[in-house]
Amino acid sequence: MEQAWARLGSVHLAGTTAQRVLLAWCLLVLTLLGNSAWPLSGQTQQRLDISVVSLGAAAQRRGRIYGAAVSQQALEDRDFRSLLLQQVRSMTPENALKWEVVEPQRGHFDFRQGDALLRLAKRHGLEMRGHTLVWEQQEPAWLQTVASSDLRTILKAHIERVVGHYRGQLRSWDVINEPLADDGSGLRRHRWWRALGPEYIDLALEWAHQADPGARLLINEYGLEAQTPAAAVKRRALLALLRDLRRRNVPLHGIGLQAHLQAGPDGGRYDELVGFLKQVQALGLEIQITELDVDDRQLPGDPALRDRLVAAEYDSFLAAVLSNPAVRQVTTWGLSDRYTWLNSQSPRSDGRGQRALPFDEALRAKPAVAVMRERFAKAASAAVSRRDRVATEQSTQEESDGIEGANAVLLQQGVLR
Ligand code: XIL
Repeated sequence: MEQAWARLGSVHLAGTTAQRVLLAWCLLVLTLLGNSAWPLSGQTQQRLDISVVSLGAAAQRRGRIYGAAVSQQALEDRDFRSLLLQQVRSMTPENALKWEVVEPQRGHFDFRQGDALLRLAKRHGLEMRGHTLVWEQQEPAWLQTVASSDLRTILKAHIERVVGHYRGQLRSWDVINEPLADDGSGLRRHRWWRALGPEYIDLALEWAHQADPGARLLINEYGLEAQTPAAAVKRRALLALLRDLRRRNVPLHGIGLQAHLQAGPDGGRYDELVGFLKQVQALGLEIQITELDVDDRQLPGDPALRDRLVAAEYDSFLAAVLSNPAVRQVTTWGLSDRYTWLNSQSPRSDGRGQRALPFDEALRAKPAVAVMRERFAKAASAAVSRRDRVATEQSTQEESDGIEGANAVLLQQGVLR
C-alpha cells in the first residue's frame, strides 16, 4: 500500500480533476495488482507478521491452503470457533465423515454433521476436505458382522453415496486412509484387503472418481516423515504403490502425509523426507500435509521449554515440506491444545496436557504460530492449477464481507496476489 502511494506520488497527473482522480485510482489498482505478484516489502512484511496476519492468509500468499481439523465438540465452543474462522482457509471434519457417523446402519446415511460443517465453511468462504472413505478404524459395528462376500457391494454403495452427496463441493478426499503396514512389507492386510485383494484401492478410487470427477483423490498415510529406518521402509512401500497406481492410470491425484510428528531424539531432521517428496512430485502427484501436530511426550514438563521445542519441530518440518511447490495444503489436526486428540490417544505420563498445536488451551498463540507464519512467508510459491486459482479467488471474494477488522484488509490483499 505504502509502495503504491509512493509510486503514485512520483507520477505527473494531467487533465481535469475528475480524469485525474480516475487515473489515480486506475494506477493505484494496477500498482496493487503489480505488488500482488511479488513478496511484500521487508518493512510491510514485518509489520504484518507481528500483528494480525492469520496463518491462513500467510499461507495463501504463497498459493498454499492452511487448514485445521475440527471436532463437533470444538465447534460448539464459541471462542474456539472464532479463532478457527479467523485463522484457517480450510476445515477437515475430524470425525464427522467417518463411516460410523455417516452410515451407522447399513443403507441409512446421516450427513447432518458433515452438512453443518460444510454450511459453516461456505458461509465463511472456506473449503472443506473429505476425510475419509476406506479405513479399518471407526467403522460401525454392523460392518463387522456382514459376510466378506458382501463387502464389495457395501463399499461401492458407501463411496457412491457419500462422495455423491458432496459432489462438486469438496476439493479433495482422503479416499484410502492408512493402507500401509508399519513394517514396510506393503499393504496392510485388513478386512478390505482380505475380502477384495489389493484391488480394493483401485476400486475405491475409481468409484470415488465416478461419483465426483472433479475431486482430487488422495491416499493418506502416517509414519512417513521421520528420519528413521521405520519411516524409510514405509516411504519405499508407498512409492512402490504410487508408481504402480500411476502406471495403471488409476485415478489418484495426490498423497496426504498425516505428519503426526514426535518432538525428541527422532525429530528435527527431514532431509530424507525432502528427497521423498521430490519423487512423489515427479509422479505428477499433489502433496498435502493432512494431520500435522507434534506429540511432546518425550519432552520435559516445563511448558515454556516445551513450546519452544515444539515450535522448533514445526519450523524444521515446514521448512522441509514447503520447499516443494507440490505441497499445496497444510492442515493441523486441531488448532488449539484445548482439543487435541493426543490427550486421549497419547497422554503424557506426568499428567500435563500435550502442547501439540499452534494455540494453547487458553487459545493464546504459542511460538509455533510465529514460526508457521514465517515459514509460509518464506515458502516457494505453490504450483497452483488454473482451476484451483479460479476457485480460490471466488471463495476469497465471497468471504471478504464476513471478516472484520485488519484481517479483512490483509485477506483482500491476499486476493490480489
Ligand atoms: C482421530 C480423531 O482425532 C479422534 O477424535 C478419534 O477418536 C480417532 O481418530 N489418523 C486419522 C484420523 O486419519 O482420522 C485420526 O483422527 C487420527 C489418526
